[in-house]
Amino acid sequence: MNFQLSEEHLMIQRAARDFAQNECLPGVIERDEKQQFPREQIMKLAELGFLGMMVDPKYGGSGLDTISYVLAMEEISKVDASVSVCMSVNNSLVCYGLEAYGSEEQKQKYLTPLAHGLKDGELYTGAFLLSEPEAGSDATSQRTTAEDKGDYYLLNGTKNWITNGGTASVYLVIAQTNPELGPKGINVLIVEKNWPGVVVAAKENKLGIRASDTHTILFNDVKVPKENRIGEDGFGFKFAMKTLAGGRIGIASQALGIASGAYELALAYSKTRKAFGTEIANHQVIAFKLADMATKIEASRLLCLRAAFEKDQMKDYTLSSSMAKVFASETAMWTTTEAVQIHGGYGFVKEYHVERLMRDAKITQIYEGTSEVQRIVISRTILK
Ligand code: CAA
Repeated sequence: MNFQLSEEHLMIQRAARDFAQNECLPGVIERDEKQQFPREQIMKLAELGFLGMMVDPKYGGSGLDTISYVLAMEEISKVDASVSVCMSVNNSLVCYGLEAYGSEEQKQKYLTPLAHGLKDGELYTGAFLLSEPEAGSDATSQRTTAEDKGDYYLLNGTKNWITNGGTASVYLVIAQTNPELGPKGINVLIVEKNWPGVVVAAKENKLGIRASDTHTILFNDVKVPKENRIGEDGFGFKFAMKTLAGGRIGIASQALGIASGAYELALAYSKTRKAFGTEIANHQVIAFKLADMATKIEASRLLCLRAAFEKDQMKDYTLSSSMAKVFASETAMWTTTEAVQIHGGYGFVKEYHVERLMRDAKITQIYEGTSEVQRIVISRTILK
């Protein structure tokens, strides 16, 4: 057992912190208000090698471990969770899925530019298309169909709440091919956004992570070549579950960052703001809130790092990633709400950042598996 981060880990953490402070903090309030996608920041993330952090350098990645990813996600999410969700989806849902289960041709063609985050000098990212109007938590109820037409699939359907939906170049689409086989009839297909029949529909007007790019995507008779199916026929649901286990480490780390960002602001504020003749941190009612925040955040961090460690050790991390996600996201919601409370009236206005962090925290309890879904995964595992 060793709780020490390596020199390399500390270097990544510093780089992410500098990036967050220098590139994300300026304009974060305005981007949130205007729902303006942080393109410039994401381009810089690509230059830093943070869009394919864990991908093998032979496919254009940075070859780092999952611990580094958690550290970077925490630092960036402290400041701008709209930037970090784009980073998380590209790293853990798209690049990981392709690297772990894609064919050599698929890796050469798609993974390499996705891990760079750039192609021909332009932003090149991916999105993960599982959720549908009537298939959120109940993910096996896929209505999108991928009809087997011999040498291609004919794709039809609607996908909802897709992160990077309008800006991504490549979609990993989960769709039903053989409904009579249930989850075993589901496939995952690589679809290029600019193919005929792909429609980027409405952009969502969201409570939080407002600068991230979330769309409905429609498929109308899209022809997908057979070689763009990932894995064997019927592998799509298992692919989604396995990939989401890693994605949940990313979102847990995002929640951790949102919580620690709010905690740091509340701590600093409570040491300067005076009430009843002293700094408010000297009132036990505030000091105890800070103590509980610090404790829950540290527990979240350890859960995230443990899940990352298990992934790096090639162990089964399904349980640990669900535990990290449910605990960190609930910590983020509680901590940010208390941070607003500590700031009082100032917490309710945009300039103090904590109201945005509170709005951003909510989604971490919903996407990549709600808190209820995490409890399904955890309880099924421990009761098995
Ligand atoms: N690894 C491998 N296989 C798995 C698995 C896992 N972790 N979990 C389930 N499976 C397999 C099961 O073994 C089963 O296969 P067999 O019949 O061969 O045994 C098959 O998948 C079906 O599994 P279940 O019977 O357990 O399915 P279920 O209907 O009870 O659902 C669930 C399980 C955990 C609730 C799942 O549906 C789930 O995770 N739902 C949430 C979906 C989700 O996270 N959506 C997020 C959308 S993506 C997103 O948010 C991205 C973004 O843009 C930010």
